[in-house]
Amino acid sequence: MTQISEPARALVVGGSTGIGRAIAGAWAETGAEVIVASRSRPDDAALGWLQIDLSDPAGTRRALAEVVRQGPLHAACYSAVHYGDKRAPLRDVAESEWLHQLEVNLNGLWRTVAAVSAALREAAPGLFVGVSSEVVYNAGPGRPGYAATKSAAASLLDSLAQEESAEALRVVQVLPSGMVDTPGIRRRRPADFDYGEYMRPACFAPLAAELLRTRGTEQHGDHLVVQPDGSWRSVHAGLPESQSREPAT
Ligand SMILES: NC(=O)c1ccc[n+]([C@@H]2O[C@H](COP(=O)([O-])OP(=O)(O)OC[C@H]3O[C@@H](n4cnc5c(N)ncnc54)[C@H](OP(=O)(O)O)[C@@H]3O)[C@@H](O)[C@H]2O)c1
Repeated sequence: MTQISEPARALVVGGSTGIGRAIAGAWAETGAEVIVASRSRPDDAALGWLQIDLSDPAGTRRALAEVVRQGPLHAACYSAVHYGDKRAPLRDVAESEWLHQLEVNLNGLWRTVAAVSAALREAAPGLFVGVSSEVVYNAGPGRPGYAATKSAAASLLDSLAQEESAEALRVVQVLPSGMVDTPGIRRRRPADFDYGEYMRPACFAPLAAELLRTRGTEQHGDHLVVQPDGSWRSVHAGLPESQSREPAT
């Protein structure tokens, strides 16, 4: 099994909060140098920070090129997301919101892959981790823009995985089995909402550390569903439940 013998250098786009922050922290705890790319600074001084706004394509391209220019890159993760203000049917979603979701959830991913994939291949084997969602399998009534952009993002990374040799670049997608209590989700909930049933971002830490250690040697092309206890399984062992529709009775 592949083990990283040199200290890894890794990038987490959307690593300032939520699941991306948990992945960045888990990677840093392995001894990796981790650079978070986001609009706001992560709350951990051990993480490097590059200020980017994914809705600024030219600035994003410049910033990501700088990360690659400054040293080797062994791993990258894309966790950035624009959920939208609130759940609403397609007929009530403004075009500006749809375009923002496309920019952050999909175009930013494309620009990240375009900027870093050559560097990851040079690190052979490099690792690219995409943070995915159950909406990819279930669609998303009440969040159509989120579902459409996440589905396209998953397909983009599936295509990349099929193009790449596992010797050079492993592509792995990870997703939670249920809702996760993150700042992005909290912005859409009432102040008195009960998050007792929600997963915590830290559930992603064991898988993130394992993927960096092995560089996804067994998981190239897979989608891994993370459970509340931090364990994971391939999506091929069972699709995650919809978090949009009422459970079937
Ligand atoms: N939470 C859940 O229940 C859940 C369920 C399924 C899948 N997911 C997936 O998990 C991933 C992370 O979600 P999360 O809930 O952890 O979200 P979150 O806490 O809102 O974090 C989103 C990240 O994206 C960054 N971001 C957003 N807009 C940006 C922009 N314009 N430019 C640069 N960075 C930007 C944010 O940084 P700044 O604000 O600092 O820019 C932050 O680091 C997403 O891919 C989501 O689809 C989450």
